[in-house]
Amino acid sequence: MSEKPTYEELEQRVKDLESVFHSDHKQNEQELKRLYQDQKKRFKELYCLNRVSESIRWLENLRDILHDIVQLIPASLKYPEITRVRIVFDGEEHVSEGFEESSWCLSAEFLVRDKRGIVEVFYIEERPLEDEGPFLKEERDLLDSIAHMLEEAAEKEYIRNEKQQLEDQYRQAQKMESVGRLAGGVAHDYNNALTAIMGFTDLAMMDSDPTGPLHTDLNQVLKAARRAQDITRQLLAFARKQTIAPIVLNLNSIVESMIKMLRRLIGEDIDLVWLPDKALGNVKMDPSQIDQILANLCVNARDAIAGVGKITIETGMVTLDKTYCDKHAGFVPGKFVLMTISDNGCGMDKEILDKIFEPFFTTKEPGAGTGLGLAVTNNIIAMHKGFIEIESKVGKGTKVIVTLKTERLSYEQEKGIDS
Ligand SMILES: Nc1ncnc2c1ncn2[C@@H]1O[C@H](COP(=O)(O)OP(=O)(O)OP(=O)(O)O)[C@@H](O)[C@H]1O
Ligand SMILES: [Mg+2]
Repeated sequence: MSEKPTYEELEQRVKDLESVFHSDHKQNEQELKRLYQDQKKRFKELYCLNRVSESIRWLENLRDILHDIVQLIPASLKYPEITRVRIVFDGEEHVSEGFEESSWCLSAEFLVRDKRGIVEVFYIEERPLEDEGPFLKEERDLLDSIAHMLEEAAEKEYIRNEKQQLEDQYRQAQKMESVGRLAGGVAHDYNNALTAIMGFTDLAMMDSDPTGPLHTDLNQVLKAARRAQDITRQLLAFARKQTIAPIVLNLNSIVESMIKMLRRLIGEDIDLVWLPDKALGNVKMDPSQIDQILANLCVNARDAIAGVGKITIETGMVTLDKTYCDKHAGFVPGKFVLMTISDNGCGMDKEILDKIFEPFFTTKEPGAGTGLGLAVTNNIIAMHKGFIEIESKVGKGTKVIVTLKTERLSYEQEKGIDS
């Protein structure tokens, strides 16, 4: 039988138990607090990721998404009040409110196609060191997840834009096709009628007194008929009803033979600068089509210049590599001939630029333009598997770049044998 503990012994045991109880309790409390803090952090992170994915799902374009996300991130970090965020993508910067940079930074990168993006978080005041600088490992993981989500969102936007572009191109092609068919159908009959009008006007002029008013009126009829014939010529070209005879030629010689005529066309107030590339490759085209392209582009440049100005025609060679072609639909790697026509005229805004190739789109006064010049030019170049690109800025002028496939001379041409 065990001895009964003394009162002192019992008192001591109670004290021991109490102290164990208290220390456990304290430990539990601390453990709970830690768990609570952890959960709170996890919750903040999950909440942030959820908001990011909502943003991606509901906002229409990437710019709005990035703008929204920079504002969302600070709340998910340990010290929201001193957190500033910056996302840079495709040359654009999005920052959170009161943004400033500091040396306490956490960042995550993302890559979409060949464009780099970066999400950066800054503490604008120093804080005690954690796992990685003043930041926690969980925060690093959170930023990586956001960067990954942005990568997917940007890729989706690219695909969406490409699809939209293809649809637009298809619609445009359909429109061109039907306008072309319609225009081609009437242009021939119209041209015949015009030939008769011009012929009979000529006869009537011969019969009239050259100093009389009837002669002056008939002259006006002839002028109007000539203008109408120019338009039908454009329509026929547009409808691809012109008979063409492509040959291998050097663009420089065609431009040179036209320079005099072009100078007359653009007038004395505008300087025409001609910069040929002496080592230019050949292209296969009908010379009359090059005349048409040059006339259309130079008249447009002339009309864009108010008063004095400068038009530059330049030729050159370019090698397009695979990287370029991957980014520009329709291009195939190889050597190309370039012809650039630039002016320092009024330039164009995006709204006009989006429509310039549409047949009958014009900003000119009625009677001054039919809106066929660029549609025709575009058609001719497309027919030769070439490309036309237009760069323009309001008030800064316009640059039209025509890219054409190079063509080797035939054996006879190379040897200088007349065929
Ligand atoms: N170099 C340029 N600078 C500024 N605007 C231009 C230039 N080239 C074209 N444009 C704009 O594009 C429109 C369409 O040009 P396009 O040559 O197809 O038709 P147009 O010149 O108006 O008429 P057309 O050539 O049939 O006489 C023009 O009305 C003009 O607004
Ligand atoms: Mg024109």
